[in-house]
Amino acid sequence: MPDPLFAHPRLAPVYDAFDGQRDDLTVYLRLAGELDADRVLDVGCGTGSLAILLAAAGRTVVGVDPAGASLEVAKSKEKTAAITWIHGDATRAPRASADLAVMTGNVAQVFLADEDWAQALRAIHAALRPHGYLVFETRRPERRAWEEWAHTTGPVILDIPGSGRVERRCEVTAVRLPFVSFRYTYSFLADGAVIMSDSTPAVPRSR
Ligand SMILES: C[S@@+](CC[C@H](N)C(=O)[O-])C[C@H]1O[C@@H](n2cnc3c(N)ncnc32)[C@H](O)[C@@H]1O
Repeated sequence: MPDPLFAHPRLAPVYDAFDGQRDDLTVYLRLAGELDADRVLDVGCGTGSLAILLAAAGRTVVGVDPAGASLEVAKSKEKTAAITWIHGDATRAPRASADLAVMTGNVAQVFLADEDWAQALRAIHAALRPHGYLVFETRRPERRAWEEWAHTTGPVILDIPGSGRVERRCEVTAVRLPFVSFRYTYSFLADGAVIMSDSTPAVPRSR
């Protein structure tokens, strides 16, 4: 079950604005080029930020995500007609002989139980061609980034087309390593709606 942050019909449309510049995607675009990956599977594609860049570079892209509201945002963007969008979790990744599978933006940390992670990896393995590649990222637990979130994330207000002025607050609600829980509270200033989203991504221990 994806978090409201991705799956709520009012939160998904403001996700990109609060996420800001996506400099983190540059390395994935470069890797797709270096690996000569024609067919790319974007697992947990969200609002399609990377999928669209990959398709614009001439690659065949399949995006999979269980958050329907995020997929609707992705589909509403320009130049997405050639992308195949699949509504489902990682286990719904099609056996598409992909050259490369990617998980950007902490997707790898939504899998909280070892068996869920193993299941996702098996599905991705089946979706790749022999000797295909999986590229994903994960936080470095020794950075203890959640300590900074608690101190530095004051309220942020953005004026977002289609949503109006929206305030977001972030609060770390529990640290029980390897899990860190946090809550985003969104206030839609135009109509006074307040919507919360609780998340608990896994922060793997260093070995
Ligand atoms: C932090 S967002 C990243 C979205 C996108 N990759 C990006 O970089 O903008 C995490 C995404 O993982 C998706 N997700 C949650 N559970 C999932 C699962 N079991 N399999 C695949 N994706 C999942 C969420 O719906 C959400 O879109």
